[in-house]
Amino acid sequence: MEVIILDNKIDIGLAIAKEIIKDIKNNPKLNLGLATGSSPLPLYKSLIELSKLENISFKDITTFNLDEYCGLSNDNKESYHYFMNENLFKYLDFSKDSHYFPSIDNVNNYDEIINNHGGIDIQILGIGANGHIAFNEPNTPISSVTHITNLANKTILDNSRFFSNIDEVPTQAITMGLSTILKAKKIYLIATGKNKAEAISIMLKGKYIKECPASALNLKKDNVYIYLDKDAASLISK
Ligand code: GLP
Repeated sequence: MEVIILDNKIDIGLAIAKEIIKDIKNNPKLNLGLATGSSPLPLYKSLIELSKLENISFKDITTFNLDEYCGLSNDNKESYHYFMNENLFKYLDFSKDSHYFPSIDNVNNYDEIINNHGGIDIQILGIGANGHIAFNEPNTPISSVTHITNLANKTILDNSRFFSNIDEVPTQAITMGLSTILKAKKIYLIATGKNKAEAISIMLKGKYIKECPASALNLKKDNVYIYLDKDAASLISK
């Protein structure tokens, strides 16, 4: 696991976008694992800008999203389908049908779909203030594959900022499991802000602690890159 501390989320987004573009130049048929939330937004912005500047095509790229709420239609403004379209997909030349999301219909074979495509080459992750990655809440088994999960109260509270009312936040979601995520060939986790500092300090203790799902990344030997701003890094013990 490599920890990179940069000044702000814009610099983090740009740094990771450059790495992704480098990889796409080597393999234009990459499988990209994508995350939602505010953390990856600067990355998506940089990816769009750099791709236009350097004439990078996404027509042979396949994307696999980490998670989706249960009970929201794909055109609901708070759905992750809508988020991805508005913040990334519509700006690039992705082919039709190149985007996969876990859903009630494919929950039992989402991992198989990913494997049949050759696995995820690059996985982008954010982290919840309670240490969740995707929607793998504290105490999710390390062997978990894509599944339906109940959201933790803390997650419902944190994510209610995107909804007009906390009662509108879905209480369930479909998420890649921890073992699904760990199979990605390369992982970039982005965390910014003081509210992530505690989860980051636990994750960086170097071992897997089941109460902090992100710490499962310690079980992956290579190719895990943790990008932090100074606030998110503020509680890391020396
Ligand atoms: C949601 C998503 C996670 C994301 C988390 C953090 O719960 N399911 O994938 O990492 O939010 O969001 P933010 O980046 O907005 O803090």
